[in-house]
Amino acid sequence: MILITGGAGYIGSHLAMALLESGNDIVIFDSLELGHIEIINILKKYGNVKFIQGNLKNIDDIRGVFLVNKIDSVVHFAAYSQVAESVNNPQKYYYNNVYGTLNLLNAMKEFGVNKIVFSSTAATYGEPEYVPIDENHPQRPINAYGNSKLMVERIMDDYDRAYGIKSVRLRYFNVAGADSKARIGEWHEPETHLIPNILKADENKTFKMFGTDYDTPDGTCVRDYINVEDLANAHIKALEYLNRSGKTDYFNLGTGQGDSVKDVFNACEDVLGRKVPLEICPRRAGDPAKLVADNKKALSILGWKPEKTLFDSINSANEWEKRLAKIKSGIVL
Ligand code: UFG
Repeated sequence: MILITGGAGYIGSHLAMALLESGNDIVIFDSLELGHIEIINILKKYGNVKFIQGNLKNIDDIRGVFLVNKIDSVVHFAAYSQVAESVNNPQKYYYNNVYGTLNLLNAMKEFGVNKIVFSSTAATYGEPEYVPIDENHPQRPINAYGNSKLMVERIMDDYDRAYGIKSVRLRYFNVAGADSKARIGEWHEPETHLIPNILKADENKTFKMFGTDYDTPDGTCVRDYINVEDLANAHIKALEYLNRSGKTDYFNLGTGQGDSVKDVFNACEDVLGRKVPLEICPRRAGDPAKLVADNKKALSILGWKPEKTLFDSINSANEWEKRLAKIKSGIVL
């Protein structure tokens, strides 16, 4: 069985759906602090999911999972991921993201489980020295979130050398979109990400565009938006790679293409078929001008290729927003 930590959250639930649809049995471990029980209940309609509520900060919670389930490999999503929050409250990030992962790795070691796929991030590279960013780019994070993820990458190298635990670290760029059948999607409270914030904006809630004076073609930040279903697929490829090669490695996951905040804003207006109220605001602290992945390594070694366009991501996110509104008001599951 495959264990997914954080499987009630945004990216973890999309991997869960993909694994269920290809007939796998899965165990989801989630504290439900940020994940949603509604997402678990939806996933249960599509296959054999065992859900265990627990917190990685409690070693016994995670030991209990290995004690009663035959786990073959782990995909580890459970983490805090808000950059600004991590700067103001690093304790929360190191305790949860680093100590929590140590507990997970120690439980794996105790129970002889030696394969893990880990959600890492472009934030481990820090301020880019060149773009597109390849995996050899120096890793010098500029916030506690990026530091916490990089520390885990380092710990995983040491746990491989000493205990033979093999890891694939996937460094995500900007994850976007939702399940193409709108069954699950992005659900953060409060929402801080670009696409859902544009889609949620209306006459009562203006969309705030942070910074139009960057050194980019149209003055707004450029990002690499990778579709969440494509991303889920990359995790399946990473699990296959671990089973096949038995080797530790790390890969960037992005499309290799950059889109500006204005490009995304215009594409959202096209999908919505209406104007979105817009307010130009000062830069948001800590936003680099341009982050684009060099994804060649994942293409050649994992055999992974992103299939979806930015339009696909915005379209699916928009369908999901409509469904989420109904879920929140208790109309549908
Ligand atoms: N933006 C706005 N208005 C909003 C939200 C975002 O203008 O309401 C802009 C941001 O300033 C930025 C771009 O849209 O220029 C993308 O912002 P997001 O918050 O959607 O994503 P980030 O690039 O800040 O963050 C993502 C992940 C993080 C990860 C980081 C790596 O969400 O987890 O990439 O740098 F750490």
